[in-house]
Amino acid sequence: MMKPVKKAVFPVGGMGTRFLPATKAVPKEMLPVVDRPLLQYAVDEALAAGIEQMIFVTARGKGALEDYFDIAGELVATLKERGKQAELAVLDETQLAPGQIAYVRQQEPAGLGHAVWCARHITGDEPFAVLLPDELLWNPGDPCLAQMVRARNEVGGTVIAVMEVPEEETHRYGIVDPGATKGALTEVRGFVEKPKAGTAPSRLAAVGRYLIEPECMAILAEGKRGAGGEIQLTDALAQLIGRQPFHAFTYAGARFDCGDKAGHVTANIALSLERADIGPAVRAWLKANI
Ligand code: UTP
Repeated sequence: MMKPVKKAVFPVGGMGTRFLPATKAVPKEMLPVVDRPLLQYAVDEALAAGIEQMIFVTARGKGALEDYFDIAGELVATLKERGKQAELAVLDETQLAPGQIAYVRQQEPAGLGHAVWCARHITGDEPFAVLLPDELLWNPGDPCLAQMVRARNEVGGTVIAVMEVPEEETHRYGIVDPGATKGALTEVRGFVEKPKAGTAPSRLAAVGRYLIEPECMAILAEGKRGAGGEIQLTDALAQLIGRQPFHAFTYAGARFDCGDKAGHVTANIALSLERADIGPAVRAWLKANI
């Protein structure tokens, strides 16, 4: 019987150089979109997909992440004293259960594949999800990972989220070499990491959500370096093609690349506009100034 996906790996070891100087002291994943850190959106998406254990692959300087998921004892006591019920409720709803989080350290930024491999002793022989928190996939009615889990229940094996990107942007992504398509699922025949202009096999780009079979860890263990001299997750996944089912799931909701400044600012505007408390003020400013 197919094992369900109950564990999720969040690789948060990247240096976030595109957000310097902020990321000198604040991990990229802690940058807020409206009032929640990016990481909270990814954790909420994982919970909605039935994930029970969160594994954060961190690095030097990412201590704020551990503090964020801890109980802030003094803050809670002060809020209680002052009768701040709404604020207490916000803290409560983002609190994970004891033991629901594990932290692993990636000792050097050797690439996304390397970061995922660092979680191998916790994922063990189970399938697992990988979520890149800087990709904000915003579809609160039916979040992307939950849709992928349902798709995996149909076809088994590896499922990765993709979106169609403009031809001129394919060089920034892992691009799928597509086989047959049925509904939102496309068979994957191959992968090209960051293809040179004009050489991409499709416009289907990986957007930071993966459901992965445990065999991938043994391939990552070989430590082969790919594009940019880094250990690439897509290179390891590519080796599973033909050995087990492998599909791309075309996600149709909103996506904001929050690892990029324009994407992060856009996400803040878009999500603000949806909010009853601040939406009207942001909309009024945009109307008056654009
Ligand atoms: P990025 O390519 O966005 O790199 O990583 P980065 O370092 O985070 O950001 P920039 O480009 O310097 O601004 C994609 C994802 O892979 C993780 C990152 O944390 C991010 O979630 N990653 C990347 C690691 O965990 N470890 C690595 O060695 C590399």
